[in-house]
Amino acid sequence: MEPIVILVGTMSGNAEMVADELVSKLKKTGFAAQSLDMSKCGPGTFRPENLYIICTSTYGDGDVPDNATEFYGYLTTQRPDLTGIRYGVVGLGDRLYDATFCNGGKRFDTILTELGAMRLAERVDNDASSGRYPDEVALEWLPTWLEAICHPELVEGQP
Ligand SMILES: Cc1cc2nc3c(=O)[nH]c(=O)nc-3n(C[C@H](O)[C@H](O)[C@H](O)COP(=O)(O)O)c2cc1C
Repeated sequence: MEPIVILVGTMSGNAEMVADELVSKLKKTGFAAQSLDMSKCGPGTFRPENLYIICTSTYGDGDVPDNATEFYGYLTTQRPDLTGIRYGVVGLGDRLYDATFCNGGKRFDTILTELGAMRLAERVDNDASSGRYPDEVALEWLPTWLEAICHPELVEGQP
């Protein structure tokens, strides 16, 4: 199985904690996995031999966190061709921000699809107001995503 890279967008560490839990679970299950702070991402980050999980929170008025701003800006302005890249999205947010709930993850999802990448499985949107731990929600989602890697033909909209 291809190595899994989790790209982390965070302001106060929740998304980083979720990514750490996912890496730990994946490693225990026998996958090669690592997390990468989005401030270190740019051209060359996406490689077809890897699989990616975008794990990001939302700040401001539905914006990506500060450490993700430059990378998100690179994607939207330079518009690299991401055909062949496969990814999943774990969004963190709070339903108190009704109009912009989990917009950080949604923004990445939208731009990656526009650039030709393929999302495997539905995005998962964590609600901080729900009383559930975001790592618990993400770990629940993980098997569905792993299943979609093995069965991309089940992904809606794919030929
Ligand atoms: C100033 C501020 C603005 C926020 N704006 C949004 C928002 O627009 N939409 C949303 O869903 N969550 C929003 N949130 C909630 C955070 O995304 C949520 O608390 C998340 O768990 C933080 O994760 P992090 O520690 O990885 O940054 C906001 C939180 C703060 C403190």
